[in-house]
Amino acid sequence: MAEKFQNFINGEWCDAKSGATFENRNPANWSELIGTFPKSGFEEVDRAITAAKEAQKSWRLVPAPMRGNILKKVGDLMTERKEFLAREMTREMGKVLKETRGDVQEGIDTAYYAASETRRMFGHNAPSELPNKYNLSMRQPLGVVGVITPWNFPMAIPTWKIFPALVCGNSVVFKPASDTPRTATELVKILAEAGVPKGVINLVHGGGSVVGNAIVNDPRVAAISFTGGSDVGKRINELAGKTLKRVSLELGGKNALIVMNDADLDNALDAVLWGAFGTTGQRCTATSRIILQSGIHDKFLKMLVDAANTLKLGDGLDEKNQVGPCVSEAQRASVHEYTLIGMNEDKAKLECGGEFATGGDLDKGWFYKPTIFSRVKPGMRLEQEEIFGPVLSVIKCETLEEGIAILNDTVYGLSSAIFTQDVNAAMTAVRDIEAGIVYVNSATIGAEAHMPFGGVKETGNGHREGGWTVYDFFSEWKTVYIDFSGKLQKAQIDNS
Ligand code: UN1
Repeated sequence: MAEKFQNFINGEWCDAKSGATFENRNPANWSELIGTFPKSGFEEVDRAITAAKEAQKSWRLVPAPMRGNILKKVGDLMTERKEFLAREMTREMGKVLKETRGDVQEGIDTAYYAASETRRMFGHNAPSELPNKYNLSMRQPLGVVGVITPWNFPMAIPTWKIFPALVCGNSVVFKPASDTPRTATELVKILAEAGVPKGVINLVHGGGSVVGNAIVNDPRVAAISFTGGSDVGKRINELAGKTLKRVSLELGGKNALIVMNDADLDNALDAVLWGAFGTTGQRCTATSRIILQSGIHDKFLKMLVDAANTLKLGDGLDEKNQVGPCVSEAQRASVHEYTLIGMNEDKAKLECGGEFATGGDLDKGWFYKPTIFSRVKPGMRLEQEEIFGPVLSVIKCETLEEGIAILNDTVYGLSSAIFTQDVNAAMTAVRDIEAGIVYVNSATIGAEAHMPFGGVKETGNGHREGGWTVYDFFSEWKTVYIDFSGKLQKAQIDNS
């Protein structure tokens, strides 16, 4: 019998009223059923928002450093359970253990950082233009916030949103991706165990079109933080506009890495393999294009194809394996569509991969061979569209300027990287690349919890997660004027 999981609303574990459920299966072994989860509807969302609204009334009055103590405990519990959480995550979404451990670690780092931030959350004060008067500003919570998260970082991304939201005194209604409800459930259990009061964190499982929409449309929800595809992000922004909600969007990427003639090619190779095929390419920050300067193009391409062909695919729970499956059958089908586009429409050259990985245990899951296309030209669909799978496009360039222009020529702008030993080239790239994140001599993945994370152009709408910047999203400013002159002083009038 598969384990049965529940929603968490107002401090209680509960089913959907309709009794409907959905299944969660292992993408490396589709016959393995991990559990069933409630397929919630409008009613569950309504109850969760009502509970969150009520609970926020007292949560906002808990001193922030005391909220921080709970977050510290959350980090401790996650540390204790790191191995268990990583294994469960690998089982439900496929990426290899080394990476799921990293995903949990990113959540732990976020917890401790959030705890420390509760003793900062600085406001400003400024001199008044009038005598015997103080001007202050301070952060205030928003109220109830909706958190809608993807399956590729089932722990790190929810923590990026939920922890700072709680630190700022908000209550949360959390809808995780339906491919990764298990990790989300463990996270919420930990929050409750650490002492987050009932109603302050609510978990509602179910589909985006029902549960997600209901959260976005509800006027009692003050803000939505969403990570996922650009089309859904645009739709959320449109819907949220009707109630003038604040919205933070982290959307697609088409990240590129430039390798210059003078680069350390061995390091660049490791970075490309990690960036392109880590998480089976299913990262917003995946290296999806590499731009090779002509002097090293042929040599590096050969090194890369040889190395990609030796990557070991398989169940991520086996530490020998380096690349796990795609998250679902549909995701693998969509990746394969891009191979067909690359071959037939773009007419790029398929160097390796381009097909399902099969044979033995691989037949049990949604494995796809690491795929590399060379002779990709700027503007091709392979080069422009987010694939979210293990497909890498190789483009040739002559100069640094041309490389940066190719890198910038997309609607996205999340992550980017350049490999070079030339400090002038590196600094020019840092200045001219249009992306929220630039790595010098490192892969396009590797964000740290205490630094801003996010992108420009259609990757987002100007907000940043991570770091100190996310606290701006989850709080409002209140400006306070305190007059102790003993009379009514009129600004702009008495002192003009
Ligand atoms: C994502 O791809 O959605 O830097 C998040 C990284 C990770 C986070 C990625 N720490 O790639």
